[in-house]
Amino acid sequence: MTIDDKIRVRSAGAPAEQHADQRRPILVAHSDDPSGTGLALFPQADALPAVWVGPVPAAGLDPDDAAALLAAVRPCSLLPQHGEGWFGRPGLSGHRLDSGTGGPAAGHDWSQLFRPVEAEHDGTRARVEAADPAAGLRLVTEVEAIPGGAIRARHTITNTGGQPYVVDSLEVVFPLPSRVGEVLDFTGRQAAERILQRHQIGDGLWLREGRRGHTGHDSATMMIAGVPGFGFGGGEAFGLHVAWSGNTVYRVERVPSGLGMADGGERLLPGTATIGGGELLLPGEITLAEGESYATPWVYLAATRAGLDALSAQFHGYLRSLPAHPRSPRPVNLNVWEAVYFRHDFAKLAALADIAADVGVERYVLDDGWFTGRRSDRAGLGDWHVDEHVWPGGLHRLADYVRGRGMRFGLWIEPEMVSPDSGLYRAHPDWILAAGQRRPPLQRHQLVLDLTRPEVTGYLLERISALIAEYGIDYVKWDCNRDIIDAGSGGRAGAPAAHDQALAVYALLDELRRRHPAVEWESCAAGGGRIDLAMLERVQRVWTSDMTDALARQAIQRWTGQLVPPEYLGAHISAPFSHQTGRYMPLSLRCGTALFGHFGIEWDLTAAGDDDLAELASWIRLYKQHRALIHAGRMVRIDTVDDTAWMYGVVAADASAALMSYAQLDEPVNDQPAALRVPGLDPLRRYRVTDVTPGTRLPRRSGLPEAAPAAIEVSGGALAEIGLAIPPQRTLTATIILIEAI
Ligand code: DGJ
Repeated sequence: MTIDDKIRVRSAGAPAEQHADQRRPILVAHSDDPSGTGLALFPQADALPAVWVGPVPAAGLDPDDAAALLAAVRPCSLLPQHGEGWFGRPGLSGHRLDSGTGGPAAGHDWSQLFRPVEAEHDGTRARVEAADPAAGLRLVTEVEAIPGGAIRARHTITNTGGQPYVVDSLEVVFPLPSRVGEVLDFTGRQAAERILQRHQIGDGLWLREGRRGHTGHDSATMMIAGVPGFGFGGGEAFGLHVAWSGNTVYRVERVPSGLGMADGGERLLPGTATIGGGELLLPGEITLAEGESYATPWVYLAATRAGLDALSAQFHGYLRSLPAHPRSPRPVNLNVWEAVYFRHDFAKLAALADIAADVGVERYVLDDGWFTGRRSDRAGLGDWHVDEHVWPGGLHRLADYVRGRGMRFGLWIEPEMVSPDSGLYRAHPDWILAAGQRRPPLQRHQLVLDLTRPEVTGYLLERISALIAEYGIDYVKWDCNRDIIDAGSGGRAGAPAAHDQALAVYALLDELRRRHPAVEWESCAAGGGRIDLAMLERVQRVWTSDMTDALARQAIQRWTGQLVPPEYLGAHISAPFSHQTGRYMPLSLRCGTALFGHFGIEWDLTAAGDDDLAELASWIRLYKQHRALIHAGRMVRIDTVDDTAWMYGVVAADASAALMSYAQLDEPVNDQPAALRVPGLDPLRRYRVTDVTPGTRLPRRSGLPEAAPAAIEVSGGALAEIGLAIPPQRTLTATIILIEAI
């Protein structure tokens, strides 16, 4: 059977009576993406389909072959159930409330056993409907192969019983092959997002919970399980992402054994590992009345035998297929935050605009501090009117000045938040999220507005729309500096509303996007606290981190890039002495770091010397020359044993060019040159290799070669196998190598 075959299986009310043909395995995969992920479903008469997921072999995969090979194992379904003898964390945890039976008020129908009712598939999509009539539940599972090569799945559960059903958790779970033994994911904090953690998988549950009400600086971001030793350029790995901007669960679990009931017979299955995830639900948050449904977020999975870069390529390919993906060349941004903070002053901001325009900036973004009462972070949030004391007559003077210098004008807002010291809070103290009568803890002196109340979103919609229209704003940086904790809604007596709040944020943003289609949006949450695929379906940029020290930024960008391609990653050149670390960073590493993202500046250029400005201008020219390549090519990170120098870059999809960076992050371990190998070029084609690093190059120390040879011509095969020898460079510098097909 090919993946284009279409089958439809219907057996309403008689799940056990499927015909043999209706029990044929199904493969969900992208037929035009040979390096992608496939998911095989093995229908079973009286149980949810068992699943195989993995990289599809280049020659394709017949799901009948998969079924034959796995006949002795039949791993779990996408919803492993306690009721079928699954000893691990179940896919669904929930129970029914029933005070009228004389029995306990809760705890009914907690152990479900779903049986398939209907299934349909068309090669890139499958839908399986199942029911547990005794428990009064219906389940629909959808699986899709998506552009880029990954697959995604979600469950929807419906309460068909007469009493309310409380869903405690509903997660999509994928079985992993037994050779998988190592897990990698991310943690972090403000100004230190995407900190890598990697360890061996043992029996038990590795559970990452996001309880901050938005994606969070400590979000797992992508949980990757693989055959031990997987690297950037090789190794078998499975990367999972939960596309949700609220509370989340990511999990890898290994259970020593399970009770299998395949083909009607009991048998003890060998231990198996799984990877999965979903939304973390707060107590009682999803309580379904009869006929109501709850759908999980889409849970994405990419599988590969070619390492972490190949996983990224599947996610990047998907993001690049989205309608919201930025199509135009990413303009050079200047964000004024670190230049002036709350000290808004026309003369200073105009002087900044002058220098910015001179060095080649294309968009000027006015950050926090422009609205009523906002002289510090202690007041003003919610009062989205321009502060007349600071900006008499509004922002027109500055916006016009910026446009007069040939740049576009963008504005910062933080719609979901309110300062207790604000007109809005004084007028509507009941508009906040709160779990009862007590006031939730302050974080950065602020509280969260309850966006599940229509009057709140109505106010925000009107205010933001009015600002966009009045000032012709074509770029909005949407910030969110407080975790959405204690997120109860007054509309429901303080019961949890984190789920509905996340949906309300999407709805508000979607309506603004609909009303103002020309506006670009940047997702910021005290830096990179809200970076996930659901948000990325709506925005054109993320603020990767408040950490603008280039050395620390290298790691944050490297690992945020695991999910997000460079064109989304806001990357700014900041002051020589970092405002976060106090560390001195040479311009070379500051610019070289920004080059491989969405390039920008966050530096008080009025304090920069002429030499620095001239060098900055040449980096901006380099960025403009190559941004089409950087923002569309395949991201590559080169495996190395010496962490003092990182090598990475982008290779054009048609193998016509590559732009690579050799970043000397610390004192080299030894004096031996490193080989800058470039995978993905055409092995038979000849390429010109040129060192295009702007600025003056200082020798590292006498007696050693200073840099790569000025310009050479070699084959793509030689570049991939031997690599360009780069001698150790001065610490905290970036060397940029351009490779072009001749
Ligand atoms: C946090 C953001 O990450 C910063 O870039 C800046 O916009 C501040 N908020 C403003 O309050």
